[in-house]
Amino acid sequence: MSTKFDARSYRSVMGRFATGVCIATTEIDGQVHGATVNSFTSVSLDPPLVLISLDNQTRLLEQIRQTGRYSLSILTKDQVQLSNHFAGRPQEGLDVAFDWVDGHPLLSSAVGHIATELETEHLAGDHTLLIGRVTHLEAFDEEPLLFFSGRYATMAEQSQPAPIGVYSVIAMSQFLADDEVIL
Ligand SMILES: Cc1cc2nc3c(=O)[nH]c(=O)nc-3n(C[C@H](O)[C@H](O)[C@H](O)COP(=O)(O)O)c2cc1C
Repeated sequence: MSTKFDARSYRSVMGRFATGVCIATTEIDGQVHGATVNSFTSVSLDPPLVLISLDNQTRLLEQIRQTGRYSLSILTKDQVQLSNHFAGRPQEGLDVAFDWVDGHPLLSSAVGHIATELETEHLAGDHTLLIGRVTHLEAFDEEPLLFFSGRYATMAEQSQPAPIGVYSVIAMSQFLADDEVIL
């Protein structure tokens, strides 16, 4: 099927979906391998599944296949250097510290930690979707690093929890009478 857009337009539109930034890691013989990813998505609550999408050329893809597991550290607004470091631009003198959970290397001082065992992988064009079953997770009271239109950003102010509230009200309203829905 022919497409009516070029790679630049594709990237330009997809980049307008604001995301956080994660470092995906896996450990082989005491050595931590990692890559910066923003393709992280929560997939399922029961069972708890997440996915990342890796370019078929990344070294990390083969490394995760080898270990059968990957972990994710959600970056804070102060970790731009770490993002660049793991995106193929090594930052000289950067201190990269890990907390270890069940043999999973997780970056210290993150917004969140997620450890997974690889459940399935799906080839999708020039990328591979790696679906992991969550075995450990932890949240920290930190501000996230954001990525939008090819640039890093931070939150101007703490956002209100409206979207989650709206979502749960929609879900709940299927089961509750109108006067039971609490906004
Ligand atoms: C903010 C940001 C997000 C990225 N997200 C992804 C991603 O989701 N998937 C991917 O394959 N590469 C992504 N990259 C590029 C990889 O981090 C980069 O190619 C890295 O060098 C791959 O490392 P490796 O080949 O050593 O495994 C991203 C880069 C940046 C800066």
